[in-house]
Amino acid sequence: MERREFMKQAGLGALGVALTVGQGIAAEETSATKIRWGLVGTGKRCRQHIKVLQRFPEYRIVALCDIQKARLDHAMEMCKADPPTGYADYRDLLKRDDLDVILVATPNYVHREVVVSALKSDRHVLTEKPMGISVEECNQMIQTAEGTGKILQVGLQLRYAPFYQKVHSLLREGIIGKPKFVWFNEFRGDWAKQSADPKIDDKINWRFKQKLSGGTLLEKSCHYFDLFRWMIGTEPIRVCGMGGINFYTNGRDTLDHASVVIEFDGDCKATHGLSMYSPHGQGFFIIGEKGALDLNWETGDIVVKREGKKDEIMRADVSNKDTGGHIGTFEMHQSFLDCIRTGKPPLTDPVAGKESIRLGLAAEKSIRENRWVDMTEIPA
Ligand SMILES: NC(=O)c1ccc[n+]([C@@H]2O[C@H](COP(=O)([O-])OP(=O)(O)OC[C@H]3O[C@@H](n4cnc5c(N)ncnc54)[C@H](O)[C@@H]3O)[C@@H](O)[C@H]2O)c1
Repeated sequence: MERREFMKQAGLGALGVALTVGQGIAAEETSATKIRWGLVGTGKRCRQHIKVLQRFPEYRIVALCDIQKARLDHAMEMCKADPPTGYADYRDLLKRDDLDVILVATPNYVHREVVVSALKSDRHVLTEKPMGISVEECNQMIQTAEGTGKILQVGLQLRYAPFYQKVHSLLREGIIGKPKFVWFNEFRGDWAKQSADPKIDDKINWRFKQKLSGGTLLEKSCHYFDLFRWMIGTEPIRVCGMGGINFYTNGRDTLDHASVVIEFDGDCKATHGLSMYSPHGQGFFIIGEKGALDLNWETGDIVVKREGKKDEIMRADVSNKDTGGHIGTFEMHQSFLDCIRTGKPPLTDPVAGKESIRLGLAAEKSIRENRWVDMTEIPA
């Protein structure tokens, strides 16, 4: 009997087995009821997903795909305890009839094509951020997800991290009143090696090419723009940025530093500073009507500052659970599991994915054109 048929007859729905999310071996778990994953784009980020997926007894990785053999081989080696089938073309992977969920971890310019095909093949999809490199791409993915009724979750994992969850709930409780001024800075070195081999330039160096990555403020800063929208709780009105290439003058055309100011509805301003050629540094500060939050996402410290009161210091979990510093990845998978079982919409739904990209596009445009950009200028 086909697995889907078996689950239907067993009254379990496509994925509705009653199991504990990401904890221990559930008694009901058998290889016939496991949720089966196909992973497309088995590069660096995918390897972190593999480590997380392997912690879930509910999951089984049955298929992997990459256009680069070495990348595919590396991922196959990681999965050798329960070997999946490897593919060089994702369309062949999608022809299988035993896949429930597809992870898309290809370069940004490939997301749309794989996401749309995977949704049309009746699979739930978890796609990496940034959701795409244009609003048009995002809209196509949103429409396809709506048309198929499948879950499409965008990998903006920071929202799921206990640290940011805690900050968000403190804000919603009104601990510092309405946010009025927010800044989020990240200063760091570069995040990927640039290959010198011209034959594989586009495959390896896609991040450093505007047309393939959408630019640094999509590729990197979509995380922070998403946090701004979620934390502040209103929509952006206009954006102003400055930035350029100070350091990496070896042919790349993506920014290596930027400073962006965003005005949000409700008279809240947010600023974001990014440098990709610096000694390490970070900072996140939220000033509200009644106080401020001084946040350190590395130590997990949350300091609540209020006039006339002693600082209140709290701490939240910032362990990255083997995901290379990407806190929230494990919890994002727990939440995804819940969504595919219950049909509940994801916290980082495709609209959140699209809005973080609209902000990135506005900031990139502002820097290019050296002027304020109104959000109405960016297609909805
Ligand atoms: N959420 C996060 O914090 C986070 C962190 C890192 C990367 N990412 C995102 O993950 C994605 C991948 O990033 P990465 O660092 O792993 O890049 P990478 O270059 O290491 O991996 C991408 C892989 O996709 C493969 N690929 C390209 N086209 C393909 C196709 N048509 N079919 C199958 N495979 C294909 C490449 O060969 C490569 O192995 C990007 O969108 C990136 O923005 C997200």
